[in-house]
Amino acid sequence: MNRRDFLNFLGKGVFVSSFSPAVLKAMGNVTSQSSKLGIAPSRLDEVILAPGLEYEILISWGDKISAKDRFGFNNDYIGFVQGSKKSEGFLWVNHEYVHPLFFSSKPAEQKTLSDIKKEMYNVGGSLFKIKRKRGKWDIDLSDSFNKRVSALDKIEFDNGIIIKGSDTGVGTLANCSGHITPWKTVLTCEENYDMFYGERNRQDGSIIKSSYNLGWMKHFPFPPEHYGWVVEIDPFSDKKRKLISLGRCAHECAHLKQLEDGRVVVYTGDDIDNGCIYKFVSNNPKDLTNGTLYVASLETKKWIPLEYEKHPILQKEFDSQLEVLTYLREASKLVGGTELDRPEDIDIDPLSQGVFIALTNNYSKNNLHGSILKITERDNKYDSEEFEFEYLVSGGEETGFSCPDNLIFDKIGNLWFTSDITGSKLNTPSYEKFGNNGLFVLLRNGDYAGKIIQVASAPVEAEFTGPCFSPDWKTLFLSVQHPGEKSRSLDNLTSTWPKVKGGPKPSVITITGKLLEQIMS
Ligand code: FEO
Ligand code: CA
Ligand code: CA
Ligand code: CA
Repeated sequence: MNRRDFLNFLGKGVFVSSFSPAVLKAMGNVTSQSSKLGIAPSRLDEVILAPGLEYEILISWGDKISAKDRFGFNNDYIGFVQGSKKSEGFLWVNHEYVHPLFFSSKPAEQKTLSDIKKEMYNVGGSLFKIKRKRGKWDIDLSDSFNKRVSALDKIEFDNGIIIKGSDTGVGTLANCSGHITPWKTVLTCEENYDMFYGERNRQDGSIIKSSYNLGWMKHFPFPPEHYGWVVEIDPFSDKKRKLISLGRCAHECAHLKQLEDGRVVVYTGDDIDNGCIYKFVSNNPKDLTNGTLYVASLETKKWIPLEYEKHPILQKEFDSQLEVLTYLREASKLVGGTELDRPEDIDIDPLSQGVFIALTNNYSKNNLHGSILKITERDNKYDSEEFEFEYLVSGGEETGFSCPDNLIFDKIGNLWFTSDITGSKLNTPSYEKFGNNGLFVLLRNGDYAGKIIQVASAPVEAEFTGPCFSPDWKTLFLSVQHPGEKSRSLDNLTSTWPKVKGGPKPSVITITGKLLEQIMS
């Protein structure tokens, strides 16, 4: 694929402004041969940024967010909720999973109840107020809304639904990506839930432990069916519920779009080899509890409703709609959902209205580098049951990236995305040329329209997650997740980023600088 193809992929509506020579200079070495912008791949244990950008650490694992609470581990999604003043807001940050090495360092079977409770506290999410003074964001530790939600909090299932004998589940976990709704609640997605309480084999009822088993099940034998949901949290009233209507799978993300009549559409994907993508269309305005859940069939270019009443095969295999939603992965395949290459993040292009989905890779099909899928709903109606689609393939010389994960469009329609080459594969022969994971942008405008540049490189074994712009687009909040995750012991660390005592530490950084403004001008 070439630059023209990338632009065609993004669709119509390219802006007319063009990059000034100053921007090009700021973007770095424009060599006559390759006209390479941005930075080259790096293997350094540092956050490397393109010239014209700088970063600061906003918060790291273990830092205080209030008098009683601390920031959790492996931060992912970041959502900004505007405060009463322009210079103030709240950040919601997801905490996806823990790495036992950095807690008790004990094997799963040797952990005590207190070891496990510590780990449980460190997943979920954090909410804290931030204020900007002279261009720098700081945390306001005194705000009464600052709080943690963790794997220890009771959370009800919506509509009073009973799952495995209970109307509540204990905790939220595996919190990967998410969304802030127009009514200022947080959608936080439970992704790889099986590493905590396993997964049930529906045929014989047995529980299958994940290979990353943390040993929590020994002390807390909670049903796996209580996890794998999208959770809605009102951080200001503290109401929380698991949204059953959106189904249960390894939800990477939930991207919400409100229709003109107030109803909402939520796109979400199942991040597993051969997982499907879904969309929920609500029956009523601002209501995530009643509606239709669809699975995408790329073969027929149709959204197939996952409705028990409509499919004899579902009636044969399942007892109820609740069972269909609970074992969504199985149900989707029975009705013809298309198996995809690990659907990760989803965002909607403000210009073409296309729905962009990162498909990170699929080792079961020897797809090492993944692609980005674009779905165009019929007539750009998000509640449509028909669509067209196309792919942007990654991993080649032209694209310069592999394993796309988080996606975000900026205010003028540049597509920013992160890569997530898994720790054990980073810098192995197939991935050597990509170096550490990075942050990239597909530029849409001017002379360099259609170029993909790398703007940041992550520390050793880390991935960038949760990119989130401040409302004035001057700050990019970014998670640095799992630096040094392949360390064998605390004496033999592969990363010490961010070079503070007790490191490595997953952290949120703020990226600012002229280049941000120039890319978006
Ligand atoms: Fe949590 Fe699929 O990344
Ligand atoms: Ca992800
Ligand atoms: Ca990851
Ligand atoms: Ca990933």
